[in-house]
Amino acid sequence: MEKKRILTGDRPTGRLHLGHYLGSLRNRVRLQHEYECYFIIADLHVLTTKNSKEDIAQVADNARGMVLDYLGAGIDPTISTIFLQSAIHETYELALLLGDLVTVPRLARLPSIKEMARAALMDEETIPFGLLGYPVLQAADILLPRAHLVPVGKDNQAHVEITREIARRFNNQYGELFPIPDDLVEGDALPGTDGQAKMSKSLGNVIFLSDDAAAVRKRVHSMYTDPNRIRADIPGTVEGNPVFTYLDQFDPDKVGVDELKARYRAGAVGDVEVKERLTEVLNAFLDPIRERSAYYAAQSGLVDEIIYDGTLRYREIAGETMREVKKAMGITSTFNRIARKAEERKKKLAKA
Ligand code: TRP
Repeated sequence: MEKKRILTGDRPTGRLHLGHYLGSLRNRVRLQHEYECYFIIADLHVLTTKNSKEDIAQVADNARGMVLDYLGAGIDPTISTIFLQSAIHETYELALLLGDLVTVPRLARLPSIKEMARAALMDEETIPFGLLGYPVLQAADILLPRAHLVPVGKDNQAHVEITREIARRFNNQYGELFPIPDDLVEGDALPGTDGQAKMSKSLGNVIFLSDDAAAVRKRVHSMYTDPNRIRADIPGTVEGNPVFTYLDQFDPDKVGVDELKARYRAGAVGDVEVKERLTEVLNAFLDPIRERSAYYAAQSGLVDEIIYDGTLRYREIAGETMREVKKAMGITSTFNRIARKAEERKKKLAKA
């Protein structure tokens, strides 16, 4: 039986962090043997909020860094396809056609659009058509390889929902072509080092997969803990304390974490000792990731070759779906009918 397909990816705006890893990267690594995987470097999505020439000039380097993080996390380029969205002309084509299968109010209601606008310092009046269409472009990404599963963070769940609606409408209107894709969302977002709900580069509260051991120590030691605990002998709160949230997520020694929590609650351990433990745990977690990215980074041009080869492979798949889409909609036959008549005339004139 043919394998089912995954499509997911990220906007190339910087390096990936622990939140990306827990939210989606580790799912991709885990599922890459079971599914045929396509990972998109979504540079067209970046344009919806940042499209100056200078921004675009950053894309290649950002893409390289992001792909190094993918590879470091364990994505295997010999079995998975990593490709550059803007190099696939079918993406632009499909996005335009899918735009007619969803209403403007449906898109305008999405909180994610408003959030992205706010983050880019736009007000409602200056939201471009393209940003409103962000989920339609994402639907094109997902439907182009006819993906079955989309591992994403919670913030993207609504976009996969829109994709399902669009796919159903397409299938009803033009005939079955697209599988209805499922999202795969795991757990709550990882809090930031400052205790905010979400680790996010724009909030400056992240630990990057590419941070070295000293950077990790520094970031951990400046972490927010329990603000009411001004001395180590005061009983501390574990719940909502990001240091313990991280230990829960990354420390393989669950018994050790439980002991540490008990001592923290009893006021029998200082923040520094807990943070030392977390530093050790995170660096042990990151070491194999660092090693793998260093392996790829050391070979000049290898990351570019991975993106390039993946993009060329992907073009075949994109081309095939787009031919099917145009055939199903009847767009192909519009031009064919005109072409047939025109060719007939040319032939007749050539004979005369
Ligand atoms: N919207 C995703 C983000 O927040 C990036 C993305 C673009 C994506 N196309 C996708 C994710 C398709 C999953 C599937 O960065």
